[in-house]
Amino acid sequence: MPHAVRLVRHSKEAKKILVVDDYSPTRNLIIEALGQNPRYQTKEAETGEEALRILDSHSFDLIISDIMMPGMSGMELLHAVRQRDPAVAVIMITGNPTTDLTVSAIKKGAVDFLTKPFDIDDLLYKVDIHLRRRQLLKPEACEKILAELKLDDKTETLSKQSYIFDSIEESPMDNEIIFQKIADLALKLVDGEVCSIMLFDEQDNEFHDKVTSGKTSGLYQNATQERRLKMIFNEVVERREAVLINANDRPEVAPSLICAPLMIRNNILGILSIRRKKNREAFNKKDLHHILSLTKRASLNLENKILYESIYLNIMDTLRSLISSIQARDHYTEEHSRRVTDEAVRLAENLGCTQKEIESIRIASVLHDVGKIAVPDSILLKEGKLTEEECMIIKNHPTIGENILKPITLLADERKIVQCHHERWDGKGYPLGLKGEEIPLLARVMAVVDAFDAMTNNRTYRPAMPKEEAIAELIANKSTQFDPDIVDAYIKII
Ligand SMILES: [Fe+2]
Repeated sequence: MPHAVRLVRHSKEAKKILVVDDYSPTRNLIIEALGQNPRYQTKEAETGEEALRILDSHSFDLIISDIMMPGMSGMELLHAVRQRDPAVAVIMITGNPTTDLTVSAIKKGAVDFLTKPFDIDDLLYKVDIHLRRRQLLKPEACEKILAELKLDDKTETLSKQSYIFDSIEESPMDNEIIFQKIADLALKLVDGEVCSIMLFDEQDNEFHDKVTSGKTSGLYQNATQERRLKMIFNEVVERREAVLINANDRPEVAPSLICAPLMIRNNILGILSIRRKKNREAFNKKDLHHILSLTKRASLNLENKILYESIYLNIMDTLRSLISSIQARDHYTEEHSRRVTDEAVRLAENLGCTQKEIESIRIASVLHDVGKIAVPDSILLKEGKLTEEECMIIKNHPTIGENILKPITLLADERKIVQCHHERWDGKGYPLGLKGEEIPLLARVMAVVDAFDAMTNNRTYRPAMPKEEAIAELIANKSTQFDPDIVDAYIKII
């Protein structure tokens, strides 16, 4: 559909914003959200090329562009835009954030990022920050505005840092590390001396220390002070509101304190508290504002993560029950999956795989034969030699496994491993006949471990092979069936 330029009612000083995204629902969502503000005047483009054509005849204060687009990518558009007008602010949208991508976009001049799916309030907040910042860049900026710029710098830093925080969080990460990151960011934002996060247990009405960042010695001057501090925490929990306390207000507590709740779905998860400013001054309202933006954002992130984890655990539970229905029929599959998982993880660690890859192979190993659910008992448990037709049915299990996992977008990487665990290095495997490095690395790892385990264990149709013989088999099939480097690495750790 040709997307006519949608103009909203606008004042004389309307800010002009161009929205570039090939996916119309996202584009419409942004245009509609911006349309709520009469100060914004928007145009839209479906491709980078179209955006450049519009830029030939119009100027903009801000551009919001998707990164992944057919034809000209968002990064190419960013480059072209910066060549034409270095002052225009560009916010990038990405569905797949990585620290590399962030750094590269910052270097190319992007001012900020949004990760899909994004929060509309977050979008409006960022648009507002960057439009105000751009206004300040204009020559009429006066001293007062410059003072505000300082604030803006910090807010922008927060926005960028949090983005990196967001993108790191995309990968499976220990909650501990996330809390540590929140505490570190909080300290940096307000130049505080010590920040701690405590989780609140509603059942026993107690606070449990989670992480502390900064100088921890002499945290409490005495037991009375510690007790009083706990009273303040209780107040924050009760009122679900942040507090800023300075020595003048409550000299008995501590010199300057900000204490803010971390909320998940209207429940108190914990409390973030910052004590003492490095320069010994009192915290001010600006500091409180920074901490509030951070805790609000952190709460949102934690909520997403916990939600993600619960969906994830749910899916894994469902898949596990699927696997156990196969295992109920075939005891070999159960033991085999367990051993292959342990060995594949060990080998992946040895190969220097990332934490994310190791998690992937752990899940994929459990699931790798899930497609056998479609193989009838008469074939799966057959003791004699299989007919050609029966062989074909068994050989379907990677494809069936792939199909079972297809609707679960969270398991896209694992699905690929399940599909490719019977591919061969020389291209003579199944189901796709991929060759060499066309086969995903983790599927090549799995192929070696899977074959070794099958050889060294009793099957209905043949007894287990001694380890030495199985190793000789792996070596004999290097570069035909298996990736030679992976065989070498595995033999070293067998
Ligand atoms: Fe298999």
